[in-house]
This record gives sequence, C-alpha cells and structure tokens, in this order.
Amino acid sequence: MPLEDNLQKIIIIDFGSQFTQLIARKIRELGIYCEIINHNKINKKYKIEKNVKGLVLSGGPLNVYQSNKVKLNKNILLSKIPVLGICFGHQIISKEMGGKVKQSKAREFGLATVEKVNNSILTKNFFVNNKNNVWMSHADEVTKLPKNFKVIAKTNNSKLCIIESTKDKLYGIQFHPEVTHTNKGKIILKNFVFDICKIKKNWSPKYQKTNLIKEVKKKVGNSRVICALSGGVDSSVVAKLLANAIGKNLTCIFVNTGLLRKDEEKQVVNTFKKKFKINLIYVDAENQFLSKLKNVSDPEKKRKIIGSLFIKIFEKYAKKIKNVKFLAQGTLYPDLIESKSVTGSQTSKIKSHHNVGGLPKKMNLKLLEPLKYLFKDEVRKLGLELNLNKDIISRHPFPGPGLAIRIPGVITREKIKILKEADYYFIKALKDEKLYNRIWQAYAALLPVKTVGVMGDNRTYEYLCLLRAITSEDGMTADFFEFKKPFMQFVSNQIVNNIRGINRVVYDITSKPPSTIELE
Ligand code: XMP
Repeated sequence: MPLEDNLQKIIIIDFGSQFTQLIARKIRELGIYCEIINHNKINKKYKIEKNVKGLVLSGGPLNVYQSNKVKLNKNILLSKIPVLGICFGHQIISKEMGGKVKQSKAREFGLATVEKVNNSILTKNFFVNNKNNVWMSHADEVTKLPKNFKVIAKTNNSKLCIIESTKDKLYGIQFHPEVTHTNKGKIILKNFVFDICKIKKNWSPKYQKTNLIKEVKKKVGNSRVICALSGGVDSSVVAKLLANAIGKNLTCIFVNTGLLRKDEEKQVVNTFKKKFKINLIYVDAENQFLSKLKNVSDPEKKRKIIGSLFIKIFEKYAKKIKNVKFLAQGTLYPDLIESKSVTGSQTSKIKSHHNVGGLPKKMNLKLLEPLKYLFKDEVRKLGLELNLNKDIISRHPFPGPGLAIRIPGVITREKIKILKEADYYFIKALKDEKLYNRIWQAYAALLPVKTVGVMGDNRTYEYLCLLRAITSEDGMTADFFEFKKPFMQFVSNQIVNNIRGINRVVYDITSKPPSTIELE
C-alpha cells in the first residue's frame, strides 16, 4: 500500500486493454488517486476495501463468452459502489446483469458519431448539440439492455452505446473516453469520479512530496541508503526526494562511462554536489569502459559488457560506505503493473536492457523504490515540486549503455568525440526552435560508413551521421517526427560545417515497429 493507508481511490480492473494505463493517467490528472489491478485478482475472494470509491472496468481483447478466461466476481457489481465499464467492461457489465452481447454485424474501429438519447450525470457537458465524435474499437456489441438499465446514447452501429442503471450505480460505454480522439472524453471520467463516485481531489505533486518523504523517513530510519545516479529524470527525482528525507544518510554514486552526452557529467556534479550539497561519489570510469569495449562490435556483447562492468564498479564504491541497508531505484508504476498478457501471448526479448536490477541480491541490500506508484508525467511534476531544474525534468530518455549503442560497430574515442558534438548541435537546435518538448526522444548516431563529399572544392571522405526523433506515449511504439525542411537544412549545415569527421546527414523515417528507437 503506498502513501496513507486510507487514501480514497478508484480501482481500475484491467482486462488487457492497451489503454488501461491511459485511463489511470487521465484519472490521476483529475487529481484522484487510482490503482490498476489485473482482472485475475477479482476472484471469489476479492473484497472491495473501504477506501475504494469507484471501479472502472477496462476494455480488452477478450469476448464476454470466453468464460474460462474472464473472471469477475459479480458481487462487485452488486455492491452499490459505482462502476464504469469501458468497451469490454461495458459488455461484461451488460452480460452479468442480464443483458445480451453479440458479435456486431458491422465492427466499429475509429471515429464514430454518438447521439444523445437521454440525460445522464455521466454525460453532463459532454454532448455538443446532442452529438459528439468518439473513438471506437470493438467487434461485439450490447444488443439487449439488462434490467433496470436505460439508454443514454447510441451510434449507427451500436444502439446501446452508453447505458446506465442509477439504482445499481452501474454505467457502461462502448467507446473509449480515455483516448484523445474522443472529443471531450475526459469530461466523462470527470463526471464519473466527482459526481457519481463523489471522491474528493487527493492527488497532487505537493501531496506526493510530503507523503513520500514521510514514508521514506519511516522506512529508512537512521540507516544509510545508496543510489545510482545517472542524471536521467527518474534517478534525479529519487535522489532529490531522498536527500530531502534523509539528508546526509544518502550517498549517490555517479559512474561516468565515457559514453554520456556532451558535458553530462559536469551538469550532474554541478546540480547534485554543488547546488544541492548531496553526498556524491563521482567515478571516472571512461578508460575501463573503453578498454573493455575495444574491438567489440556485436550489440548484445556491448550491452552485456557495459551492464556487468557498471555493476562491478558500482559495487566497489558502494562497499566503501559503511552501514548501508538500502539501494534506491527509480522503478515507476508501469514497471510494476502486471504485464502478463490476458491472451497468454509472450513477447520475445529484443534487447537486453541495462539496469542495476542485479545489485540488491548480490549486495544483500533492501530495495527502496519511492516512485513505484507514479507514472512518468507525475515523476516530472514531482521533480519540479522538489525544485529540480526544468532541463533535468524534461530531458529525453537516455539508454543505460549510452552512446555505445548509437555507434554501430566498433567504438573508438574519436567516434565518441564526433558523436557527442553532433548530438549537441541537434539537441540545441531542437531546444532553440522549441521543438524539444514536442518530441519524446531525439538523438544523433554515428554510422560505421564513410562516404565521399565535396567541401571547398576538395574531396572529403567522412562518417555518416543519422538523426532520429520520435513521438511516443511510452517508448513501446513510436513514430518519426516530421520536421520542416528549413530546420533539417539548418541542422545538417550546423553538423557538417562545425564537426570534422562528418560530411553527410540522414534522417531516420522508420516507426517502431518495425524498427526500434535505438539502433542497437
Ligand atoms: P528501443 O530501442 O528498445 O528503446 O525501442 C525503447 C526505449 O528504451 C530505451 N533503452 C534503454 N533504457 N537501458 C535503459 O535504461 C537500456 O539498456 C536501454 N535500451 C534502450 C531507449 O532509449 C528508448 O527510450
């Protein structure tokens, strides 16, 4: 249980929808705490805790007649605690309460027009001239109303698109109010939590700061904590939060692998050691990393070498600090949510991610994960509340193996130096043109190819620089960002004119899938 034990909340029951986390984020943006629970947990024994003020049933890939896969303790629908079913959730409420669900004659995917049939608190301020554009994704539909229910809205292909039973406090909608394509979808969630569940705002960065500090103090007492600080958003927020809570009992260890972005190590030392006066051990391990990586070109080998050397170095310095009981990590809520697929499909390993996950077992330390109930956007707001600089908070994600996976093939000092400069010019232009915050992640890479160019009447034979900039919700899928020609021309000129070693710039126009965000 995070934070206060009696914090009022909404529970979202996940039936495997790709949008479940989005529902949670939208509700939290309204200032209400909510948690996601896998539908398997809502079995016969499940009891609703006193502080649960409402339930949301998500969509999902199942159909309501796959009785072996769908488990739902019907008591939760009879408990008089408000329930909102979305898509599959709408169908399962209907079926369980005596209605009928059938395969639709015409499936609905994408935009649809919903028309008002009756008034409802759920749709207060939602319709515009009794209509609205909503986003659908379903192959089944509710064809018979359950007892005590009435229709609130319909579409051409879904006559029972929004239904409700105010007596039982049950509400169902066939479309997805949580996605941005549904016009004013958030209003439905707002009406549900405030007017139907009658829950009061209880979730803000200020609340999180106060309570997380309290919680850390209680858990840690007078023990010592170590934290691997990378300079990224998550570890920076963890470090600052812990420093506020336990002061000098926190020691951060920052390992400079030599594979970081330009001047990154200076910024980390300036912010955490000089400005915030946090105990920080700075380890310059560039030579060790580069000598281990010499002549290695296989992506997985690079990742493994970097990951294990990082752990070895971190362990060596951590051992020098006496009486350490905890290792702090920036685990976030999405890492925690049960990711087991409801359809049982397995995802294959694409890349071995570098993190410090192996450390606590090896070092006999307890894990301290103060951010484990927060989404990334909440971590950013908490960071601002903790007075962290905007530059740190809005930083694009950066992979553990750093520039090593942005230099396909063999890594040399010369290549790293060239790449740091290219990345610097690209990112600076993005910031100057106010594009940086519209992009989820952007970087430059140095390809192991030399091509011929001409500069000042002379032949050049230099490296190829690849630029990548993507938009994404969570890094799982991504699309390339569409720049205007003058911007691309400017960046290309900046890079080629200012950096010796690059004479050609290309832009990566693949999405993920089929590509990945990083090159290796
Ligand atoms: P890919 O390349 O798998 O990247 O599409 C998805 C996101 O993960 C980041 N990434 C990593 N982050 N350790 C990390 O902490 C890693 O080893 C690692 N590899 C990739 C990548 O930058 C992108 O944001």
